[in-house]
Amino acid sequence: MQMNNIEMHTKEFWNVKSERWAQDLNNNESRQENEARYQHTDDFLLQQGLYNSGSDILDIGCGLGMFTVRFAQKARSVTGLDISDRMIAYARQNIEQNHLNNVSFINIPWQDIDLKDYRMEKAFDLVFASLCPGISAAESLSKMSLASRGWCFICCFARKFSSLKNDIYQRILGVPYDADWGKASVSQSFDHLIKSGYYPYVTYYDSEAQLKWPLNNNTAAHFAGHLGPISEEKENIEKYTSTVFDYLREIAVDGIVPDDTQSRIAFLYWQAG
Ligand SMILES: C[S@@+](CC[C@H](N)C(=O)[O-])C[C@H]1O[C@@H](n2cnc3c(N)ncnc32)[C@H](O)[C@@H]1O
Repeated sequence: MQMNNIEMHTKEFWNVKSERWAQDLNNNESRQENEARYQHTDDFLLQQGLYNSGSDILDIGCGLGMFTVRFAQKARSVTGLDISDRMIAYARQNIEQNHLNNVSFINIPWQDIDLKDYRMEKAFDLVFASLCPGISAAESLSKMSLASRGWCFICCFARKFSSLKNDIYQRILGVPYDADWGKASVSQSFDHLIKSGYYPYVTYYDSEAQLKWPLNNNTAAHFAGHLGPISEEKENIEKYTSTVFDYLREIAVDGIVPDDTQSRIAFLYWQAG
């Protein structure tokens, strides 16, 4: 089950996402929500002493490099690792725009990297992975510990509710949206770490937002894609976009569809070295 989760997160899947996310960087609403998360997480790491100006950091699943840039501005060096070459291309641009020269990138799935070949055993003061699906299996957590001479940190959703997604689920699939889908991964990770002899700390980051989605085909495709497992996103976009659009048109007010969201992100961190 855990392995399937990794297998479905292919390079191609994340390459497609990178294009949409890069466009989203210009969308104020989604940018603001993410910026608050980046800032809170980074402040937390510094306050807890998980890194400092002398640290070498590994950022697994670095995506567009939003954490990579923040870390590179304050630490000695950062290595960004990602399964997707397109994500890394955007992250590289981000690093260049910020005039940083202490960052390198590795384009490989975390489960495939041989730490010895890459001279990455105990090579980092902080091994960090934020919302990275490549970290869902026990071996991938153990590998994080092997790469760290200091701290490891992961964060993942424990809960993610959207009033609009819930309404669309009820209307089209006849069932409520399961906002608690992430919880299992938090407890599995905790369980594995404690059984492996580590003592993970756990805390949560809660956020709420009142989003206003424009009534258009992109919004309909976004929600259509979520009507089922992420591995079937493409098929669901084709299957449901026009039905979702009809529903959004019914409930929109002045071309805007409101959406109340709440999310709870679990932070798990442990001393590995
Ligand atoms: C949800 S994004 C998170 C991006 C960023 N860390 C953040 O918190 O905003 C997940 C990232 O993990 C990458 N990813 C997915 N599976 C991976 C794997 N097996 N190994 C390495 N990276 C992976 C994706 O390409 C994507 O950039």
